Amino acid sequence: MSALAFARIPEPELMEDLEQARAYSEANFAAPHDRCVELFRASWPGGPISGRLLDLGCGPADITVRLALACPEVTIDGVDGSAAMLHFGQRRVDAAGLSHRVHLCQAFLPDEPPPGTDYDIIVSSSLLHHLHQPQVLWRYLARYARLGARVFVFDLMRPASPEQARALVQTYAADEPEILQRDFYNSLCAAFTKAEVEAQLTQVGLFGLTVEEVSDRHLTVRGVIQGRPIAGA
Ligand SMILES: C[S@@+](CC[C@H](N)C(=O)[O-])C[C@H]1O[C@@H](n2cnc3c(N)ncnc32)[C@H](O)[C@@H]1O
Repeated sequence: MSALAFARIPEPELMEDLEQARAYSEANFAAPHDRCVELFRASWPGGPISGRLLDLGCGPADITVRLALACPEVTIDGVDGSAAMLHFGQRRVDAAGLSHRVHLCQAFLPDEPPPGTDYDIIVSSSLLHHLHQPQVLWRYLARYARLGARVFVFDLMRPASPEQARALVQTYAADEPEILQRDFYNSLCAAFTKAEVEAQLTQVGLFGLTVEEVSDRHLTVRGVIQGRPIAGA
């Protein structure tokens, strides 16, 4: 698929508009978000997952909360550059009674740091395709993870053509509001192919991570941080 893919069309990085953030927060992402958490847990079988987890581009914290509920032994810092998204995220964290274990904070990558350093686990869902420079995610993640940290990135994959992108919108979002259908189409066009993500990891020197297609529209990047990225890459 990657050899035939059409050229990426970047979309705005931050989702700062209040109505856009509200529509995203209120959308029913139960199926893909539960799948994301299931894949995360299946990546490290054999016991409970514990430690300090950083969720990059947490948005309205739907996955953040699902992760916290599925992994009672983790504490989570969720960061996002959008105040509008964090407004809905904090409401979700409070409603779930998780404010003692889940902390949200505004930070714009790459310039603003997360609250901590040396995280045990770094997760990111659907941030990569928003970034104009994908290396921003890989370098930030490597900077704030401890050596040996677990990494789990879940993101959209760019289809082979705009027609296929439109077909995916029809299949998965036909009943959603117009604004969500538009954002989903734009996000599919902005996403990276598996081969592109593999090239990004090689360029930065993150050799412990593996890219896998896990559905007709999602890929994961999973593994362990084995070293610091190549300077200047
Ligand atoms: C599609 S949402 C994903 C939200 C959530 N992780 C999920 O999967 O539902 C992408 C989020 O990344 C945030 N974002 C995009 N670029 C960013 C950057 N450079 N720094 C911080 N946040 C960013 C956006 O504001 C938005 O909330």
